[in-house]
Amino acid sequence: MRLTKVMGNNDKAHYMAMIETENLGRYFGEIKAVDGVSFSVERGEVLGFLGPNGAGKSTTMKMLTCFLTPSFGNARVAGFDTVLESRKVRQKIGYLPENAPLYGEMEVGSFLRFIAEVRRLEAREISSAIDRSLSLCGLHDVRAQRIETLSKGFKRRVGLAQALLTDPEILILDEPTDGLDPNQKHEVRALIDGMAENKCIILSTHILEEVDAVCTRAVVIARGAIVADASPQELRKRSKNYGAVTVCFTEGADTDGDFASALGQIPGVGKVLAEPDFTFTLIPEEEDSDRSSQDLLLRVAREVEQREWKLSDIRLDSGHLDEVFRDITHAV
Ligand SMILES: Nc1ncnc2c1ncn2[C@@H]1O[C@H](COP(=O)(O)OP(=O)(O)O)[C@@H](O)[C@H]1O
Ligand SMILES: [Mg+2]
Repeated sequence: MRLTKVMGNNDKAHYMAMIETENLGRYFGEIKAVDGVSFSVERGEVLGFLGPNGAGKSTTMKMLTCFLTPSFGNARVAGFDTVLESRKVRQKIGYLPENAPLYGEMEVGSFLRFIAEVRRLEAREISSAIDRSLSLCGLHDVRAQRIETLSKGFKRRVGLAQALLTDPEILILDEPTDGLDPNQKHEVRALIDGMAENKCIILSTHILEEVDAVCTRAVVIARGAIVADASPQELRKRSKNYGAVTVCFTEGADTDGDFASALGQIPGVGKVLAEPDFTFTLIPEEEDSDRSSQDLLLRVAREVEQREWKLSDIRLDSGHLDEVFRDITHAV
């Protein structure tokens, strides 16, 4: 396994690949929950684990965080082997488990103090670390409240606050927005976004818009195996009608002949699909780059203008993650 080590300003070791797995796998009895996954994640990346329920996301995360031993393969986190050097690994990471174990009878503030002690933060750092975590997660107002009295969303935030307590360079978040309302989801995404630059973050989700909103890269997992590893943008490009231009005309426009045949003459248009209500979808000639799909949109707009056709809508299809997700997770 290759590991590139670069020395930073203060002689602190930085690892290009902060997380690296090689053929990592895990059985539960006969069930192969994770079937040999290999990937690496670098600082600055926010990697989204996407996959249907039971795909193996949580199991993979548990192996990265030393909660489960791999049945085969290996993983290195911050340069340390998760089995042979698990103590070192655990010092480097913040982990939000899927069902974060919280002590219901404890108050938020004392729970975080307890975690800080367990994680061996230095005594003089503890108060400021707790304050920082409370602020980041919007928990100041409930710091004296017992955890069991909190809503599901607030409990999730307490879980997140304990993961952030040591300001770890590596964050592993298992469905961080699960149970949150749309505003809270937005806040957590903004929080992740704000931390992303200097950290290496892996989060799991089955919410596709989350991947678009915060992830620089998506690893799609199905039945324990990686079926795609690409940026959200690259994944969207695999949509059936990516780059297509849809135009809708208002009824009664001066048609200047047949819409469909005129639209078909525009350079770059491969196929014209006529839809109800004076709507046409123009499929680009070949797989196009972003630039040329923008060009196609412009050419169509110009043609429409020249002919003085009356439009009610014109739009470029920038791809649909849900469609691509369905295709790739069903194909295996
Ligand atoms: N402790 C366990 N014992 C037995 N089977 C398990 C255990 N944990 C997970 N599994 C099984 O492993 C597979 C992957 O589960 P999991 O990693 O939780 O998926 P995901 O997080 O993607 O929903 C599922 O089939 C699940 O039932
Ligand atoms: Mg899970």
